[in-house]
Amino acid sequence: MSGTDKLFAGSIPDIYDDCLVPLIFETYAEDLAARVASAAPQAVLEIAAGTGVVSRALAPRLVPGARYVVTDLNQPMLDRAARRQPPDPRITWQQADAMALPFADGSFDAVCCQFGVMFLPDKVQGFREVRRVLRPGGLFFLSVWDRIEENIFARRVTETVAGLFPENPPLFLARLPHGYHDVAVLRGDLESAGFGPVAIETVTRQSRAETPRLPAVAYCQGTPLRAELEARAPQDLEAITARCAEDLEAEFGPGPVSGKIQGHVAMASR
Ligand SMILES: C[S@@+](CC[C@H](N)C(=O)[O-])C[C@H]1O[C@@H](n2cnc3c(N)ncnc32)[C@H](O)[C@@H]1O
Repeated sequence: MSGTDKLFAGSIPDIYDDCLVPLIFETYAEDLAARVASAAPQAVLEIAAGTGVVSRALAPRLVPGARYVVTDLNQPMLDRAARRQPPDPRITWQQADAMALPFADGSFDAVCCQFGVMFLPDKVQGFREVRRVLRPGGLFFLSVWDRIEENIFARRVTETVAGLFPENPPLFLARLPHGYHDVAVLRGDLESAGFGPVAIETVTRQSRAETPRLPAVAYCQGTPLRAELEARAPQDLEAITARCAEDLEAEFGPGPVSGKIQGHVAMASR
């Protein structure tokens, strides 16, 4: 993992939330929130919550007396999440590293994490932390992206930027968000951390945008790919984004554009 891989700060939180969340995260957030709510948990922890797309979908579905602690490593992401959430006394926002959760053993009925565990430097250790804070019988709901070839706009952008820097391709999207896609490895890591029954489902959706520029901006400027591009060509972020938009238009048309996205959604019991 490179030093900038987990840095969601500066202008990234706003671009992430404005562009990437509606493009690829909202549809999975509705799905994950429904799964968590169906367990009717009283105490819920969310890790790597980002700008709160799951929180916005889940809070209205939780029971009236629920306690919902929403955490992320990067405070600027949580700040954006808190600004967008309707007032809700059941929610606590708290900066926390998922690798070392600042919560007592057995303090939650459910933990959820949408497209965040890929960022954990040691997956089994991170899953052990989740298990530690779950009560016996508690549930861990999580999702990971499938391989980049199944996530069409991310694949297109990665090919374009790799072509621009063939000696040193910026591979953040393939390496990090799409780098933990093997369901056998995911299941094995959850079991190694001590989880019991693990159920994994592959969920396919369509990613839609009005113009091809939107996915170009979302991936190039609203994710840590941005730092890789700026390190290679400090003045050229806009030109690189425009080139990605051109290639997206060549492959998918002038807009509206639509492309497959695919992830794996898991539920593991403590
Ligand atoms: C792709 S985003 C997903 C955010 C959100 N769950 C969503 O669906 O939009 C990954 C998130 O993981 C967070 N993150 C990275 N490393 C982390 C860690 N060690 N502990 C907690 N959060 C972390 C980042 O700050 C970022 O918000």
